[in-house]
Amino acid sequence: MDKPVVIRPAEGKLGVLIPGMGAVATTFIAGVEAVRRGLGQPFGSLTQMGTIRLGKRTDKRSPLIKDFVPLAGLDDLVFGGWDVFPDSAYEAATHAGVLRQDLLDAMKEPLHALRPMKAAFDRNYVRRLDGRHIKEATSRWDLVQQVREDIQRFKADTGVSRLIMIWCGSTEIFLEPGPVHATIESFEQGLKTSDPGIAPSMVYAWAALQEGIPFINGAPNLTVDFPAMVELARQRHVPVCGKDYKTGQTLMKTILAPGFKARMLGVRGWFSTNILGNRDGEVLDDPASFKTKEESKLGVLEHILQPPLYPDLYGQLYHKVRINYYPPRGDEKEGWDNIDIFGWLGYPMQIKVDFLCRDSILAAPLVLDLVLFNDLAQRAGMRGIQEWLSFYFKSPQHAPGLYPEHDLFIQLMKLKNTLRHMQGEDLITHLGQEYYD
Ligand SMILES: NC(=O)c1ccc[n+]([C@@H]2O[C@H](COP(=O)([O-])OP(=O)(O)OC[C@H]3O[C@@H](n4cnc5c(N)ncnc54)[C@H](O)[C@@H]3O)[C@@H](O)[C@H]2O)c1
Repeated sequence: MDKPVVIRPAEGKLGVLIPGMGAVATTFIAGVEAVRRGLGQPFGSLTQMGTIRLGKRTDKRSPLIKDFVPLAGLDDLVFGGWDVFPDSAYEAATHAGVLRQDLLDAMKEPLHALRPMKAAFDRNYVRRLDGRHIKEATSRWDLVQQVREDIQRFKADTGVSRLIMIWCGSTEIFLEPGPVHATIESFEQGLKTSDPGIAPSMVYAWAALQEGIPFINGAPNLTVDFPAMVELARQRHVPVCGKDYKTGQTLMKTILAPGFKARMLGVRGWFSTNILGNRDGEVLDDPASFKTKEESKLGVLEHILQPPLYPDLYGQLYHKVRINYYPPRGDEKEGWDNIDIFGWLGYPMQIKVDFLCRDSILAAPLVLDLVLFNDLAQRAGMRGIQEWLSFYFKSPQHAPGLYPEHDLFIQLMKLKNTLRHMQGEDLITHLGQEYYD
């Protein structure tokens, strides 16, 4: 056994600050309130439901993860956030239509009391939104200062001892890293001149890191995935991670594709299409926001199947992803996959997946886990990119020069081994020879 990592205890309350209080954020918040009241169970959450095996299979030690590592408890979470619409969490959750109205009504008081702060917003980055609950500012720099003041006020008003910020805002237009994102100095200069390469999500992230608060990016936006931001996170000893919660169709892809590769089955084509009718779908109807999402969704197969290593199996793969805005479905998305595979001697076969899913129901437990694990990471002295949390993302942020790990099962092993490492337990290699000596 190794020496355990020193982890500061989870004392006091944990503030959860959320830019973007729409469907995902309110389903998460209302869900935590419901679990606290015994009105539901946190299914889908590894931190709440998952166990971790320690030692040999014969040791029979498999505690719950939440009993193994010192996580904040659900009763310790205090919520706050920003949105371009002034609706309370109760109104936003009602509008999103994810949770039943009678369940929301049972928690009306705390949800209604939760009102978003004015947003740092710029319509050029999310063209399909037209909210009026936004900050006035002379520059991006000024916006950062305003967000920092919001954070300080929230901390003083609520008395929380620690904070986490998690982006649940809309998907912004596609941006690529440029000179303004290269260093802390160039980024700060860009904030002062309101460089167009600096999107509102980056304003929140910069403010959070300056305040020593971990930042999680649940959308595919660039946000914290560039050198200036990662360097600031390292300097300030703060964890960052992203991008884009891995929920419906991409979750299925990262479950199925490793299986095909494990069995050396070829894949010739993978066509994925979706219909969804929530506000996220409306924003993604704009080609500039869709491009950001598309990039995030497309990388997955390429990295799991590794065509350069297996040209005969995956060299001809044709991968297409479509998202169609279709209002009647609301948050209850339908995702179809047609997968053309081939086996022995090249004989073709087809697989059809029709996933009638609920987007925010799948995303909410990921928000909870990411909040709790990033708080743990910070108390354990971990800073910069948290690659061990790739499990939760479609497009995991990673160090330059590495390829991202997309295989859900490798991601889970990496996550659990990180927890074992933190607590000084042996890592599990699955070698298993000791049982046969
Ligand atoms: N639900 C899922 O399964 C899933 C999976 C992966 C990623 N995501 C991403 O999570 C994000 C949230 O999804 P959703 O379904 O809750 O969308 P939503 O449209 O219901 O909520 C997003 C909210 O963000 C607000 N917003 C936009 N820009 C903002 C800004 N600059 N500051 C503050 N608020 C801002 C909007 O007004 C809106 O209320 C989206 O980017 C989506 O792509 C969702």
